[in-house]
Parts: sequence; C-alpha cells; structure tokens
Amino acid sequence: RIAGPSSLVIFGVTGDLARKKLMPAIYDLAHRGLLPAGFSLVGFARRDWEHQDFGELVHDSVKEHARTPFKESVWNRLAEGIRFVQGTFDDDDAFDRLAQTVKDLDAERGTGGNTAFYLSIPPSAFPVVTKQLARSGLADASDDTWRRVVIEKPFGRDLKSAKELNEIVNDVFPEESVFRIDHYLGKETVQNLLALRFANQLFEPIWNANYVDHVQITMAEDIGLGGRAGYYDGIGAARDVIQNHLLQLLALTAMEEPVSFAPRALRAEKVKVLSATKPLGPLDETTARGQYAGGWQGGMKVPGLLQEGGFAKDSTTETYAAVTLEVQNRRWAGVPFYLRTGKRLGRRVTEIAVVFKRAPHLPFDSTSTEELGQNALVIRVQPDEGITLRFGSKVPGTTMEVRDVTMDFGYGHAFTESSPEAYERLILDVLLGEPSLFPVNEEVELSWEILDPILAHWAKKGAPEAYPPGSWGPPSADEMLERTGRNWRRP
Ligand code: BG6
Repeated sequence: RIAGPSSLVIFGVTGDLARKKLMPAIYDLAHRGLLPAGFSLVGFARRDWEHQDFGELVHDSVKEHARTPFKESVWNRLAEGIRFVQGTFDDDDAFDRLAQTVKDLDAERGTGGNTAFYLSIPPSAFPVVTKQLARSGLADASDDTWRRVVIEKPFGRDLKSAKELNEIVNDVFPEESVFRIDHYLGKETVQNLLALRFANQLFEPIWNANYVDHVQITMAEDIGLGGRAGYYDGIGAARDVIQNHLLQLLALTAMEEPVSFAPRALRAEKVKVLSATKPLGPLDETTARGQYAGGWQGGMKVPGLLQEGGFAKDSTTETYAAVTLEVQNRRWAGVPFYLRTGKRLGRRVTEIAVVFKRAPHLPFDSTSTEELGQNALVIRVQPDEGITLRFGSKVPGTTMEVRDVTMDFGYGHAFTESSPEAYERLILDVLLGEPSLFPVNEEVELSWEILDPILAHWAKKGAPEAYPPGSWGPPSADEMLERTGRNWRRP
C-alpha cells in the first residue's frame, strides 16, 4: 500500500537514529514507490541551517545507510520536499514557523496537512515538545486531516515515569494517534512468528507446558557502548531492551491466537499474556547482571565499560542482564522463560529457542543416546534469518547411536524477495495509520510492572559482575540456569 498525502517532521535530526535509520528508511520507501507524490520531510533542530544544509545531511545519510541503490531521480524527487526549521524546543516562534511550514507544504505540495511528528529525542524533552505541538495548533487534527506522534523508546525508566509520560502525551494526542516505536516488531522474522504459529497445524498443539521444557530468548550484541554514555549510563541492558524488544518477543511467542489480525485483536492478546507474566523468584538466583570488562575481542583490544568515554568511573550500569519469567496461565504454568541480553558478547545474534521436554522413555541403551539433547525449535531473528529444528537421528553405522541433527529454513534460500528494514515498515505504517505493530500504553506499563521488582532488587546490590569481552556473560548467568539443570544455548 502506498501512503496517502502526508509529511513527516523529525525532531532530533542530528542524532544517530535519524541519520542511520530514519532518513535512509524514508529514501528506501521512496525508492520502492511507497511514498505519495508530494511527500515532504521536515527537520527541526537547533543548528543554524538552511533547507539545503539539512538536505545535505539527508543526502549523506542516505548514501551511507540506505538499503536500496542510490538513484538520482528518486533522490531529486525526495529532495524537493525537504525543509528545515531552526529552533530550540522552548522557542514559541520556532514552533509557529513549523506550523507555517506545515501549512505551506499543504499548499505547495498537496500534503493535505497530514503530518506525523517523530520525536527522536530524549524522553526528558517529550513534555516540552508535546506542549509546543499543542500550543502551536500542530497537534490539532480535523475531520479530514490527521496528526500523529511517533515516540521512540525509552518509554520511561520505570512504571511510575512511564505513566507520567503516557499522561503527558495522551493529554495532547489521543491514544490512536500515538505510535510507540519498538523496531523489533518491524522485523520480518518477528512477524513471521505469527505465521509460524498460526498458519500451521504442526506447532500449536505442542506449544504449551505439556511439551515445552523452557524458552530462551537471546539478544546478544558484540558491540560495546562507546559514544552512547549519554543515553545508556544509568539505564542499562534491562531497560534498554528487555522492557521492550524482549518482552514483545515473549508476548508474541506465548500469546493465544488472536481472533483476527486487526490491531485491536492482536494487542488484546499481547496485553493478556503480559498481564500473566511475572518474575520467577528468588531474584538472587533467577536473575543475573554483568558489566563488560576491558580485554581482547576478535583480535582487538577493547575498553571496559568504565573506561568508555562519558560513563561514570563507578558506574553500576549493567551491560548484561538475564531474567527468569513465568507466564502464569494454563498454557504455560511451570515453563520458565529465560531472557538474556548483553553487549560485547561472543557474537551478534537474536533468537527465540523453544526447548522441548525429553521423550518420556528412550528404548535405547544409555550409551547410545549420550549425545542426544532436547528437541528445540529456534527462530533465528537475526542475522542469518530463519528457523532451525533440532531433533535426534540415528548415526549411520551398525550400532544404534542417536545424535542431534538440525533441519534449517533460511530466508536467503527460500525467498527471492528482500526484507524491508524494520524502520521502513514502521514509518510506512505510521503514514498509513496502521497501528498493529506499535505497542499501546497498556503494554508499555505492563512491561514495566514485570521489570520493576527486578530493577528494585538490583538497585540494592553493588556493582554488576564483570565479564570478559567476547564471552557469553558473567558466571552468575550460567549458574542461574545450571541451578535448574539447564544450560544456555551457544548460538
Ligand atoms: C536498540 C537499543 O533499541 O536496539 C540498542 O537501544 C541496540 O542498544 C539496538 O543496539 C539493536 O537493534 P538491532 O536491530 O540491531 O538488533
């Protein structure tokens, strides 16, 4: 579907996200022909720039980061609709100028006045910007014009602040005009979870506590936090990605079948499953947190978190977090969901592994099944997108020996179609007014409710445990699973 007449205003255009993801995604949408003819892109920032300077920033970021090839004709069409408004967030005049720009774009380019405001700015600036949007009339939709606001995480730092934030935003924009970005929901492989579960007969009958032993959700990154102290120090891994990306993955893995894929039906199931999700205690034994130390990774010497520029020298911010959750309902009671994430780990990989119980009886002598593990279905979110099924198979030969083998589905082999970048999909959905892939405030608040007790528990403890770069996290994370007779996967 092609978006209707509209424009996008970005606050925070000089930030990393805008340069690396948003502007390239807009170009990619233009390249794929999914933007309307008069589409316009407005940047708002403090810099003393002309339209042209902002145009250059967009141009460079597109050249460097866009997925689709650079084509002069596509770029020229996009460039005609690029505008810049200079100002600070507390400057009434600047917002009045922005309002005028939005009006002019309607007259000049036929945007219909339909405008999405993308707040790619720190949450501390949300209140002032939303107030300005209200004051200048920019937030006012009419019968034939829409106004929407897009907010980036973090949606608060705990339940209390998330509620305050939601109130501030909902004061100005009705909930149906608020689009909270969780870019994991824009990923092709994440959406495929729904197809895997609900388009097939094979998996759903065994997708429950009768057959599933536990679920492991891993989001590992090999990069460190150089350059991100301003955002990350005091926030940490759990708030950065467990509260949003990983709990959304859990919700999609554990929820019931929605009655349809209408936005309301899908969100209702997510809300239901998140309401049933609780930390499994005692938290000293069922959670782990760590901080990367300096050392060697991939043949390079890398600093520890405390040596990264901008981090407090005694920062207790965790760069690794693992938690155990339980979904307290009939389908899942007793099945632990282990969620872990970390920076500077062995490799970059995100996956959901559904690990099944062992067969109740093995009619083989015990030496022949020594190398037999548990069946597992692994949804490989990234990189190397696909699905792996692990099961036991007879080793060729004269004896009855059984060993694990895998069966793989890879996107690269199965499809010729390429996957759009998550942000591309999500920005298009904002312009289309398609809310399915955006968490509602209830989901955000429920996610904080799950995490808050764990964060409070950690706050009482001292520094997180150090772990070497390139490893799989601190020893306490391994102990956390070993205590229950299980092990983390080594993807
Ligand atoms: C962001 C986090 O939401 O996701 C980052 O703030 C993280 O810390 C990033 O690096 C990872 O995204 P992706 O799409 O590369 O897995």
